[in-house]
Amino acid sequence: QVKRRADYTPPLFVIRDVKLFIDLNPTQTRVKSRLEIERKGKHSEPLILDGEKLELVSVRLEQKVLEDYALNDTSLALANVPDCFTLEIETLIDPQHNQALEGLYLSNGVYCTQCEAEGFRRITYFLDRPDVLATYEVTVQGDKTSLPTLLANGNPVARGENTDGTHWVTWQDPHPKPCYLFALVAGDFDLLTDSYTTASGREVALELYVDIGKRERGRFALDALKRAMRWDEQKYGLEYDLDIYMIVAVDFFNMGAMENKGLNVFNSKFVLADQNSATDEDFFNVESVIAHEYFHNWTGNRVTCRDWFQLSLKEGLTVFRDQQFSADMTSPLSNRIKHVRVMREHQFAEDASAMSHPIRPDEVIEMNNFYTVTVYDKGAEVIRMLHTLLGEEGFRQGMDEYFRRHDGQAVTCDDFVAAMQSATELDLSAFSRWYSQSGTPVIEVERKPVDEAGNQTITLRQRNPKTADQHKKEPLYLPVAMDCIDANGAHITDDEGKIKDGLVILDSESVTLSFSGLGNPVIPVVLGNFSAPAKVNNPLSVQELLHVFRFADDSFNRWDALQSLYDWCIEQYANGNGSNVNDAIWSGLKGVCLDEADNHELLGECLVIPSFETLCQSRTLVDVDRLHRAREQFCHDFAMQLSEPLTQIYASIAAGSYQYSQYQVNARRVRNVVLGHLALTEKGSQLVERQYHNADNMTDTLGALKAAQRGKSQLFETLMADFESRWKQDPLVLDKWFSLHATCERADSLSQLTLLREHPQFSDGNPNRVRALIGSFAFYNTAGFHAVDGSGYKFVTDYLLQLDKTNPQVASRIVTPLTQWQQFAPGYQEKMKAQLGRLLNQSGLSRDLFEKVSKSLAFD
Ligand code: ARG
Ligand code: ZN
Repeated sequence: QVKRRADYTPPLFVIRDVKLFIDLNPTQTRVKSRLEIERKGKHSEPLILDGEKLELVSVRLEQKVLEDYALNDTSLALANVPDCFTLEIETLIDPQHNQALEGLYLSNGVYCTQCEAEGFRRITYFLDRPDVLATYEVTVQGDKTSLPTLLANGNPVARGENTDGTHWVTWQDPHPKPCYLFALVAGDFDLLTDSYTTASGREVALELYVDIGKRERGRFALDALKRAMRWDEQKYGLEYDLDIYMIVAVDFFNMGAMENKGLNVFNSKFVLADQNSATDEDFFNVESVIAHEYFHNWTGNRVTCRDWFQLSLKEGLTVFRDQQFSADMTSPLSNRIKHVRVMREHQFAEDASAMSHPIRPDEVIEMNNFYTVTVYDKGAEVIRMLHTLLGEEGFRQGMDEYFRRHDGQAVTCDDFVAAMQSATELDLSAFSRWYSQSGTPVIEVERKPVDEAGNQTITLRQRNPKTADQHKKEPLYLPVAMDCIDANGAHITDDEGKIKDGLVILDSESVTLSFSGLGNPVIPVVLGNFSAPAKVNNPLSVQELLHVFRFADDSFNRWDALQSLYDWCIEQYANGNGSNVNDAIWSGLKGVCLDEADNHELLGECLVIPSFETLCQSRTLVDVDRLHRAREQFCHDFAMQLSEPLTQIYASIAAGSYQYSQYQVNARRVRNVVLGHLALTEKGSQLVERQYHNADNMTDTLGALKAAQRGKSQLFETLMADFESRWKQDPLVLDKWFSLHATCERADSLSQLTLLREHPQFSDGNPNRVRALIGSFAFYNTAGFHAVDGSGYKFVTDYLLQLDKTNPQVASRIVTPLTQWQQFAPGYQEKMKAQLGRLLNQSGLSRDLFEKVSKSLAFD
């Protein structure tokens, strides 16, 4: 069952060209394929095609019916085939009953495909692996009235009508591609069109297909697409390569979006956005996901992965590119902080869990389980380190070389690093360990006191704790951005110039920096801009943290200093030493509010208290109840102590009429973060209620609801009821409503949740709904999910036992918090493991859940 990276062998046969004829029918879709196949090299092995959940109708080799084949649940094998031949296969599939949403499925009257990673084998027998590249011609046929739109990859080349009320369209994609990039969509949509002229003057038709009636909500996405196309030309010299680019938004989708060649399929939540129904964050996500999928056209499609272990080759790189784009379109600081939150809240937790894996995994049972924060986000951090090391120009040179060498090929992460190597004098061989070693490095900072002569040393030491998958670790190549400041805020340089251009290379166990001629001690400020995906243990005092906030050059470091300060305060509360959080600290924080009152970008981030998940990453065997309560108490005192400056800040920012502009986004962010704090004070409900009723946009409406949720008053219920009646017809907005209920920490969470499952608009078949209700509860309702009696764990498990039967991919995502039991105190661990045990005992458990659950129970 386990597949290993080390076992890769090249394909024995290749498929050069594919012709598909697909006759759509809800339960009996007929798929006829015609494959041009060639043997590779000299051998007499059989041809083994992948196929799952298919009903085989017939096989023809060079037009002759073939009876001599071996068929089982996952493959079709043909022995004694010629070296070069045409194979025709006819199969039947059942899109209507496909609730796994993998392969071809029908939901809400729309036919849609999802083939990455291994879904194409649920459409027809094929060599379903990314290193088999073919050209495709696809004819889609279906009912004319219910399916006026029939789409596939590439350009439409012919169409026609039949006498029985059906019609058909033929599509050609001239670019050879792996089958995971195949797509087909059929339905009845509203269409938005536009066009784009590439840098070299080619005209590209842009088409966006959305649910009937939602056309206006698609404008922003289409504009974002044009911005992404321009950006990729300017930043990387990369142009689009077909005459048409299509995006379809669907309501039933397991993931965010998919980069199928020329025909992206999107979860509608990453396409549809207008001021009434979408928040600033939604707008941001739409632009970033649109760009991500567009950027895949080069990093993913033109150059693809040799095998699925190389997934980060395309995902890490494309995430890095979409991050660069978003930083250019919005603001670098808030973007960077967003990435760091993802790393700290989710990726570090994955590293610490039984699912720990390198960005290029070595072993996989179910590939769908490896679309992870490690492969994606840590993968992007690894690319970012290369960018830091090579510099803007060197990185671009390496990218150019990558495309020069590998356009049209299926390659490996090593190939990528080799291309980058060609653009730098640095030896990247030690750096490549980032691809093979899992786990989060810890950078320990050790300061010696200044001696009488005014000398001081600071040592950076890396520790690489063992992980579930690897016990032996080697030192990593860590670029550590570093700034040293003294008591007056002056920047100090080290004697030997080991800090070069603000960077220390920590590529062995430790590096020691010497300073001399000092009047007062040096305060080390490390990991500026989060220059490496590491934890830092830099024991600074509270006063030093405030000092760093005032004097450090790097805004990320400034923000991070306050995060450490909050973390320390919460720890005092947790240990019953709340009185250590004294007036000096509160007045320091008031100072921050006053000094930065006009710097909305920084202030908005600095007023956010670290999440419970982030706090867990600097602790072990967390007593959930205690830490959670300490955090709540700190939040409460924070609101009381700072209520005056916070009230002033809130009042100083006018709501104005809505625009999605960076200036306004920053202002609204501050207002809503502040409102969240003020909700805990006496005058809170009044402010919340006023904001809710005056809001002219979803950001402020949702801000008010979240604040009301924190205030834990009757007001929350009242506003939620109003919100529901206003938005019950709008699926995306209703998801927000479900999620707000699911994350509300109240004593009767579970009976609430049970009620919501019975809500007429809750549906187990809709992944967005399931994530909004069950996923939000499991990931973000700390008190409810971790209820001391284990009832939260049981509730989620009961649900997963059922969901796994229809949609294993979504079930496997939601099980994640349970598999991270090792973070918590023994009492919690036992109860979590008990539920994992129930899952493992379930007969017919999916491979998806089996892999995560069994690994997590085997973890010691
Ligand atoms: N390639 C897609 C993207 O990153 C995601 C596909 C996820 N597939 C999966 N089986 N989970 O844009
Ligand atoms: Zn991607």
